[in-house]
Amino acid sequence: MTDSTSAPQSGGLALQARWLDAYQPGLRISEQGTVVSVGDGIAWIDGLPSAAVDDILIFDDGSHGTVFDLTPGLIGAVLLHDTDALTAGTKVQRTGRVLSLPAGDDLLGRVVDPLGTAMDGAKPPTHTRWMPLETSSPPVMARDFVTQPLYTGIRMVDTMIPIGKGQRQLLIGDQGLGRSSVALDTVVNQRGKDVYCVYVLIGQRRSTVVNTIETLREYQALEYTAVVVAEASSLPGLQYLAPFAGCALAEFWMRQGKDVLVVYDDLSTHAKTYRELSLLLRRPPGREAYPGDIFSVHARLLERATCLNPANGGGSMTALPIVETELGEIAAYIPTNLISITDGQIYLDRDLFSGGFRPAIDIARSVSRVGGRAQHPRIKQEAGRMKLDYLQFLELEVFTRFGARLETSMETAIKRGHQLREILKQERFSPSSERFQLAWLIAFNNGGFEMVSLEAIPDLLATLEKSVSNTMLDLESPRDDWSEAVREWIGGASQAVKDDA
Ligand SMILES: Nc1ncnc2c1ncn2[C@@H]1O[C@H](COP(=O)(O)OP(=O)(O)OP(=O)(O)O)[C@@H](O)[C@H]1O
Ligand SMILES: [Mg+2]
Repeated sequence: MTDSTSAPQSGGLALQARWLDAYQPGLRISEQGTVVSVGDGIAWIDGLPSAAVDDILIFDDGSHGTVFDLTPGLIGAVLLHDTDALTAGTKVQRTGRVLSLPAGDDLLGRVVDPLGTAMDGAKPPTHTRWMPLETSSPPVMARDFVTQPLYTGIRMVDTMIPIGKGQRQLLIGDQGLGRSSVALDTVVNQRGKDVYCVYVLIGQRRSTVVNTIETLREYQALEYTAVVVAEASSLPGLQYLAPFAGCALAEFWMRQGKDVLVVYDDLSTHAKTYRELSLLLRRPPGREAYPGDIFSVHARLLERATCLNPANGGGSMTALPIVETELGEIAAYIPTNLISITDGQIYLDRDLFSGGFRPAIDIARSVSRVGGRAQHPRIKQEAGRMKLDYLQFLELEVFTRFGARLETSMETAIKRGHQLREILKQERFSPSSERFQLAWLIAFNNGGFEMVSLEAIPDLLATLEKSVSNTMLDLESPRDDWSEAVREWIGGASQAVKDDA
């Protein structure tokens, strides 16, 4: 149907009269298809010879679908609305539009589905622009190097696996080891840092969805975050589209020159949904029954995260995709794909988690391929020494398990390693500031933690953190000033801790 044939939506009789005056009778040609079968979130359609992939279709009951598969005979469409009215024989037409999402600043603090429909019971968010869900990634010439740090507030990450703005860092590990917690912590840490966040929840249980939103609200992170949800009970089509919708939203802000952080929680579920849709649409299955183009689906999504150069506004999109492994098997199909697409990974380990070391990040298997450039030189310098100590300790620790006799130097290394392990343990939602990171690194590298017992380390850290928050020193302050200050703080703090004991 065209505009001239549809009745005016509002206005009085005068408007109607004007519409009638302007009405031009004439021949209009439109294609009409027919639903042949429908079920499991997809529909097979006959007719519509000029339909193209990603076109939006409108069914006679007012619901929408999108073209997913073109075969010589029928069109495979994915349904976007849950409706009982859709049956075989329902008529269907093309809308001539492609999938897009209404984007705007009003989406901050809101929860929407992948089509931009409000899910939080409030009025529909107002929007500035429609952003296409599928679009090409910025060309190489528009991109810049990753040079600005994106702080997670997690001591282990910011010092040893630093993330830069525009980087794609994978969070990988078995179920329940704290992957979402790392992502949420990072979002919470962006408070006051002028970074907009988009949290995409794909195929999660309702309770997880509610918990995530409540956590964001509790830590006042919702005000700079948009949440895109397609929960487990949503149509598979919506679950498949969710990360693309989140990406489109992040792109909207990135193109305005903003720094954006987007979390995809998680892409394993996304891959499974895509597999389900593809099998229903009778596409040939490949490895682990996933369709052959799952790699390109995820690559297309993650390639859109980047850092734009100043000529293109200088915005950035940092992506934290999450993927699940089974029994720590990172060589499975989807995890290896994502490892090769991203710029590094943070690996969460079950043994560390059950051993009470949280966040359960396995440094030996985690890497950040581009974030080092973006790390502040002061933190980088101090963290380099500390990381060596830690890796050496992890190796030595294996020896001690066999009861080997150790030289004194090794014993010292092990003692320092144990201290480090205590320092690196961190509760959820207790982000460490950049200045505090520098302070504890200086303190550790200069043997500042040797004066107290392992049990006293959390208290010592807390006192140190308080001193840092009260000082005027910043990351650019002279090295000597920092060393002097840290020596004084740690001296005072360890005395206080000992007095308490
Ligand atoms: N740093 C931490 N300190 C203490 N507990 C933590 C920490 N990080 C995560 N946890 C706990 O570990 C559990 C699992 O965390 P989370 O839900 O983030 O993991 P996940 O890998 O996303 O799990 P799922 O497979 O359910 O998505 C939660 O109960 C959480 O409170
Ligand atoms: Mg999770």
